[in-house]
Amino acid sequence: MQIKLLFFITLLGLLKYSENARILASVFSPSYSHQIAFRPLWKELAKRGHEITLLTTNPMKDPDLGNIKQIDLSGSYKVMEEQGSSDILTRGRNEGKSFMSMAQLYLDALDRTAEWQLEQHEVKQLIQNNSEHFDLLIVEVMNPIQMAFSERFKVPFIGITPLDAPYRIHDAIGNYMHPIVFPDYFLPFTPPLTFLQRAISVTFNWANWYYQYYVRYPSEDLIVRRHFGEGTRALRDIEKDMSFLFVNVNPIFHSIRPHGLNTVLMGGGTHIGKPKPLPKEINDFVDAAKDGVIYLSLGSNIKSALLTDDLRKAMLSTLKELPYKILWKFEDDGLQNLPKNVKLVKWVPQQDLLAHPNVKLFITQCGLQSMEEAIFNHVPMVGMPFMGDQHSNAIILRSKGLGLTVDRMNLTKTEFKKTVLEVLNNPIYKQNVIEISNSSKDVDMSGLERAVWWTEYCIRSKGAKHLRNPAIDLHWYQFYLLDVIGLLLTGLLVLVTIIVLILKLLKRLVFKNKNNQNSNKKLQ
Ligand SMILES: *[C@@H]1O[C@H](CO)[C@@H](O)[C@H](O)[C@H]1NC(C)=O
Ligand SMILES: *[C@@H]1O[C@H](CO)[C@@H](O)[C@H](O)[C@H]1NC(C)=O
Ligand SMILES: *[C@@H]1O[C@H](CO)[C@@H](O)[C@H](O)[C@H]1NC(C)=O
Repeated sequence: MQIKLLFFITLLGLLKYSENARILASVFSPSYSHQIAFRPLWKELAKRGHEITLLTTNPMKDPDLGNIKQIDLSGSYKVMEEQGSSDILTRGRNEGKSFMSMAQLYLDALDRTAEWQLEQHEVKQLIQNNSEHFDLLIVEVMNPIQMAFSERFKVPFIGITPLDAPYRIHDAIGNYMHPIVFPDYFLPFTPPLTFLQRAISVTFNWANWYYQYYVRYPSEDLIVRRHFGEGTRALRDIEKDMSFLFVNVNPIFHSIRPHGLNTVLMGGGTHIGKPKPLPKEINDFVDAAKDGVIYLSLGSNIKSALLTDDLRKAMLSTLKELPYKILWKFEDDGLQNLPKNVKLVKWVPQQDLLAHPNVKLFITQCGLQSMEEAIFNHVPMVGMPFMGDQHSNAIILRSKGLGLTVDRMNLTKTEFKKTVLEVLNNPIYKQNVIEISNSSKDVDMSGLERAVWWTEYCIRSKGAKHLRNPAIDLHWYQFYLLDVIGLLLTGLLVLVTIIVLILKLLKRLVFKNKNNQNSNKKLQ
């Protein structure tokens, strides 16, 4: 009996063991919001017995991370700063830099950072360790370089994006792209587009496609081959083997687009937990503000301390006149003549602050995670977008009536004050926020449950090749039907030519007859 029991327990142990996978996870972006978007996924997978090696720029500080082993890449922030990234993003447009030159500087900084990460001792050891093995790679694909880990370990991989996926990634997994119905999130357009917007969207997509695949990917391939070996396949081919794409969007908030079964929407507040007590300094300030607090933060990539003087002056003179207290996330102490009602703090536990009932308004750069936290906590917003998807998020913010937006390129005190007071005093904005928050929670499964289920499905099915979209293996001219349209047009052309020739022939015959008759008449 005891032996039987022992056998049974051993068998159970083996079964459990075989289900536990070794997962390599890499979230490349030196950006706090990109990192926190996926923390609940790592924790949940670890809780379910999987062993996770996580490459992250913001290691979690929890004491009991169990099966999660973190590789600290926080030095990435310094590398980005050495390339001047905050400066480009915060002041670039106000200082008249062109979109293209800014994009290039920023993308170069990302590539440099990705390469720096591969040069780190622990990462090198991981790549070179021949007895290391994994069952799955989960990798952030905003920058493509880290996808090469799937080649190194010969494992299936799941691509993850903390915002909507860029066009090239939707394209890589075979999601149907249409620049007019689903404009790229870099463009400040939401459907329906005007004719001019349609023309811009199509041109942007073609130009971007060319730039990504013929300029950026080849140089990124060079980085990959330096660190993963000369024989590594091109990133363009690797990305087509992506088993799943987890996109951190909420379909209630974003526009609806068609996608394959292997694209999983996991957004809608996945990263939001129960509110924790605020640090004393912040709590005292917010508790004491009986008339309410406005919270102002431009996120972690845009630095309030780097704003141009004009913009900062316009903001400060507005804040001074508002009958509210203002908590501003500001990265240094060097601000002169700070109004009495404004408090600067270097870091804010944002979710917990937004959950405080005294917070009446959030002035935000329109980062997706920030907006989700505000919606979740029923706080209306004033948006001041800077970069990336923030402009299109700002349009969604306005069109869904969750608040209003201002343009930082020509912000005046009058305009800013009017906008802020309108959102604070008109209850419609808060009502809309509550409504969208309610419908975001009305789902079959939470984003986290969905992500966990499909991750384990991917492990069980060894990459779920049966869900691969057949569109991926078509040439672009086949996908856009150009060969078929070409054939049909050629057929039509041949048909028309034949008909024209026959008509000409008939005409000649008829005229010949007439001419003959005429000449016969003359002869008679
Ligand atoms: C190589 O990987 C194995 C298996 O995970 C591990 O036990 C070992 O410590 C690693 N070696 C180094 C030098 O990291
Ligand atoms: C600011 O500029 C934008 C275009 O960039 C324009 O649509 C808007 O009306 C301007 N606002 C003010 C207050 O001038
Ligand atoms: C939101 O949901 C709660 C609970 O389900 C309900 O009481 C409330 O009326 C809803 N509010 C709106 C604006 O839909």
